[in-house]
Amino acid sequence: MKVLVIGGGGREHALVWKLKQSPRVEKIWCAPGNGGIETEAECLPTDPADVPTLVALAERLSPDLTIVGPELPLVNGVGDAFRSRGWPIVAPSQQAAQLEGSKVFAKEFLWRQGIPTARMYGVFDTSRDALAALSGLNWPVVIKADGLCAGKGVFVAQDAASAEDFIHRAMDTNELGSGGNRLLLEEALEGEELSFIVVTDGQHYAPLVPTRDHKRVFDGNRGPNTGGMGAYSTDELLPPKLRQQVLESIVEPTMRGLASEGILYQGFLYIGLMLTASGPKVLEFNCRLGDPEAQAIVMRMDFDLAQVLSELAAGILEPARLKWKPGASVCVVMASGGYPSKFASKKKIDGLTDAERINGVKVFHAGTLRQGASTITNGGRVLGVTAAGTSVERALATVYEAAAKIHFDGAHYRKDIAASAGRVHAAGD
Ligand code: AMP
Ligand code: GLY
Repeated sequence: MKVLVIGGGGREHALVWKLKQSPRVEKIWCAPGNGGIETEAECLPTDPADVPTLVALAERLSPDLTIVGPELPLVNGVGDAFRSRGWPIVAPSQQAAQLEGSKVFAKEFLWRQGIPTARMYGVFDTSRDALAALSGLNWPVVIKADGLCAGKGVFVAQDAASAEDFIHRAMDTNELGSGGNRLLLEEALEGEELSFIVVTDGQHYAPLVPTRDHKRVFDGNRGPNTGGMGAYSTDELLPPKLRQQVLESIVEPTMRGLASEGILYQGFLYIGLMLTASGPKVLEFNCRLGDPEAQAIVMRMDFDLAQVLSELAAGILEPARLKWKPGASVCVVMASGGYPSKFASKKKIDGLTDAERINGVKVFHAGTLRQGASTITNGGRVLGVTAAGTSVERALATVYEAAAKIHFDGAHYRKDIAASAGRVHAAGD
């Protein structure tokens, strides 16, 4: 098989690394890839959001399978463009990608299908209407931009003053771009978050192992939201009873709903959950794998990813093929100085070889660039230092030993990834 992977972050490096282990795979291209992917696949400089460019690329390369990492090409319709030409692709349809592309679309779908989610207070097209709706609400209140905002579109407002400020920035000074032209207000849910991702061919589905992301930039969940500062996976995140409840009250009705509404979903469906006192509720859908979640997930895969995904694209997914390694995996993201605000770039990275020499460690690259024999930083999230272990504690010890060996000017990472794991374990049944 010749495989084309679209994207260039840690998630795509993780996919490439796992695909490369398949005896079926003879060639991998990655568009555009990054400094780490370059050592494992042929990278092609491409704008991954531009569908006509991707069509032209695939026309030239004739891959046997295309796998799409990020949301932009999906929301722009790459899935339909490839499928209408008969080219196998792991990508939900443009309509299905609206589950991530429009929070209002997702909310309305959840209602129609009777799936538990936060109560919505309203949808607003002007700041005047949104501001007027604030009076009489219980705080905190969650404000969400309807459209894609590169991870900056959700604000949990603790009081009216900060809510007003966010509404002004979204709707009056357009700081979020066009994604912020419409806002949705909803109830704030309390509990632990969980990333529950399934693969589906539109008819059959299989859950991936559960993961938990860490979205805030600093330890103790302080500071602004980021794309994700680290993730871990262990089956203990989801005790059997809770897993059954998630499948019955959320996953099954979602799958049935998509089918009954004629929405073709072939790909990864990410369900962001809040485990509340009154049961699991949907926070959000993403139409793709999460990042850094994907980096933790591939470490536990005990199956041929190329085989499973090519069967998915053919509409013959076999859920029983997805076998998982027991134990745990942890991914710690190393970020550039200043991230998630304005950050420094083009800093030399040292210690990568030493880190990867440690048993059970893989360093996935996100924002990196090769420059001669060196690797330099080229983005906010730079590396995903990832390790597997027989337990969360062991994987943590390994991952932090590896991270300590890597150096670049301004590097920072959270020291408390998976610190809540003990609590989850204690609460498990
Ligand atoms: P989203 O962009 O929808 O993934 O939201 C980003 C983050 O905002 C989530 O991971 C949660 O931490 C938080 N969030 C979103 N919706 C809610 C809600 N209704 N209640 C509490 N937190 C929320
Ligand atoms: N880690 C969350 C996301 O990929 O959106």
